[in-house]
Amino acid sequence: MEKINYNETCKIYDLVREEDMVTIRRIIEEGKINCNSTVLEIGCGTGNYAVTISKCTEAQVYGMDQSEGMLEKAEAKGSKINFIKGDAGTLEGFEDNYFDVIYMVDVLHHIKDINTMLKNIYRILKKEGKIFIFTDSYENIKNRLTTKYFPETLEVELERYQSTEEIFEAMKDNGFHSIKADNLDIGYEEEAGEKLIKIAETQGYSMFNLISQEAINRGIERLNEDLKKANISYQAKASYISANK
Ligand SMILES: C[S@@+](CC[C@H](N)C(=O)[O-])C[C@H]1O[C@@H](n2cnc3c(N)ncnc32)[C@H](O)[C@@H]1O
Repeated sequence: MEKINYNETCKIYDLVREEDMVTIRRIIEEGKINCNSTVLEIGCGTGNYAVTISKCTEAQVYGMDQSEGMLEKAEAKGSKINFIKGDAGTLEGFEDNYFDVIYMVDVLHHIKDINTMLKNIYRILKKEGKIFIFTDSYENIKNRLTTKYFPETLEVELERYQSTEEIFEAMKDNGFHSIKADNLDIGYEEEAGEKLIKIAETQGYSMFNLISQEAINRGIERLNEDLKKANISYQAKASYISANK
């Protein structure tokens, strides 16, 4: 059986994950999204980002995901978004030259063939349309709180995440220009220790499906030990790569 099953994860996803407003502001501002824009989120999950972008801009927003369970949660949020089941690799059913902005948040590491996906993103973006890919750089992965307390996650994450250089190369090969990488300070957590325990217990990050239960238990123990001594706060970083068609 597939180790990461978003039709299961959807049951707890919104208890442990939420949209980040710094990321959303960056997509809206750099993407110049307004009420006339057409916007697609690839791998929209439970729709947290798409719903907020739709509410803030009145743009015509589409959310696409492979998981019916995640999409059901998204649709229950009752927004004006067109949620569609589909595969990021092929992006079948979308018209050529249709979108002003396409973005994805925490999805790229699930995609096996980023070249085919980028070729299709290029096809359905308008000329000078913009793509944003939020995905952790190797440096960010090494500095994560999860890496500190669950060191077994480091190897699995470096294995499945694409490097910034690889993404740049693939974008260039598929015709994009003005390719740029940037970092953002996001989601400062005052009580990051308690939150991480909850995420690990519920396997709210897919990385926890890829390490053993013993490794998860050891990490939770380390967190509980440290919490007895002091509060654990954490400033998360987001890295993203953007480009134009
Ligand atoms: C970590 S969640 C991110 C969800 C959302 N972007 C967010 O940040 O809240 C990853 C999502 O990517 C979706 N996904 C993974 N591989 C996919 C693929 N090949 N095509 C479409 N969606 C995919 C999963 O179903 C899941 O909903």
